[in-house]
Amino acid sequence: MKKIAVFTSGGDSPGMNACIRAVVRTAIFKNVEVVGIMQGYKGMIEGGENFVPLTSRSVGNIIQRGGTILKTSRSKEFMTPEGRKKAYDNLVANGIEGIVCIGGNGTFTGAEIFYNEYKIPSIGCPGTIDNDLFGTDLTIGFDTAINTAVDAIDKIRDTADSHGRIFFVEVMGREAGFIALASSIAGGAEIALLPEVREDYTALVDFFKGRTNSKKSFTIAIVAEGNSEGGSTAIVENIKKQIPDFDPRIVILGHIQRGGSPTAYDRVLASRIGNGAVEALLEGRKNEMTGLINNQIAFTSFHEAIFSKKELNPGLLKLIDVFNC
Ligand code: F6P
Repeated sequence: MKKIAVFTSGGDSPGMNACIRAVVRTAIFKNVEVVGIMQGYKGMIEGGENFVPLTSRSVGNIIQRGGTILKTSRSKEFMTPEGRKKAYDNLVANGIEGIVCIGGNGTFTGAEIFYNEYKIPSIGCPGTIDNDLFGTDLTIGFDTAINTAVDAIDKIRDTADSHGRIFFVEVMGREAGFIALASSIAGGAEIALLPEVREDYTALVDFFKGRTNSKKSFTIAIVAEGNSEGGSTAIVENIKKQIPDFDPRIVILGHIQRGGSPTAYDRVLASRIGNGAVEALLEGRKNEMTGLINNQIAFTSFHEAIFSKKELNPGLLKLIDVFNC
């Protein structure tokens, strides 16, 4: 293999740049040319200036930067055979023999379909703040996102304490509660409402009814955006129906969790995974995601990474209740 491409796709995550840097420098170290594809699958379909040759210098001074220098998108067109044909033609025109894709579920779904049709090998790097990919203990960006969330929760605790208020803090995680669970433990929250756990509403209402009699002066409840009862606003509205003077504050952290300089942990993770992905591609591996399991590089088929369910740590779940005494 003499020329490979790298791109980022789906929701960006802090550490994607560190991963791009690792991919480019590993390839160059192995005498392989690298092309960066701007805007993910969208750029692959549009071709032209979206295909940018990358040198070691192109990825200088980016390890500390959030976002992705290659930009990203969620492409509907790549989900069509016509879109994928255009993408294939552009890859061939640019002499691309292998691909490293950095992203989440949607990215790997596209890569798997593409390989089945056109046989251009690809290896994935798990880049998503959600940490919802099977086959890696942590995804690139998760650690930074939970640190951002906890930093915000700490600030909210100050004002919650001063006013003796209840705060609902909504964190990201469309279908997974990893961010919510970790930030609940690290942020000292009393309640964590997660997509994976069906909430006992009566118990929740009882908790808030009893709260006025409890010794605690304030309460922090963390809600994952993908909670089965709806987001924090819907939950609060429901509780209000049963406790008319319920007057909490809601803070939706939103996309600030996706930005910012990656933590040292995310930079090291991204560097190891990016390096492992290129080595794997050059060894002839394909259709797999590179991850880190028990601190060792590990490979999981795209299919398994997408469709196997990564479970929340039950020990962590239990801690919420234990510490809520
Ligand atoms: O998948 C990562 C993620 O940040 C989710 O947590 C969130 O639901 C989604 O992306 C938001 O996507 P968008 O940036 O398209 O609004």
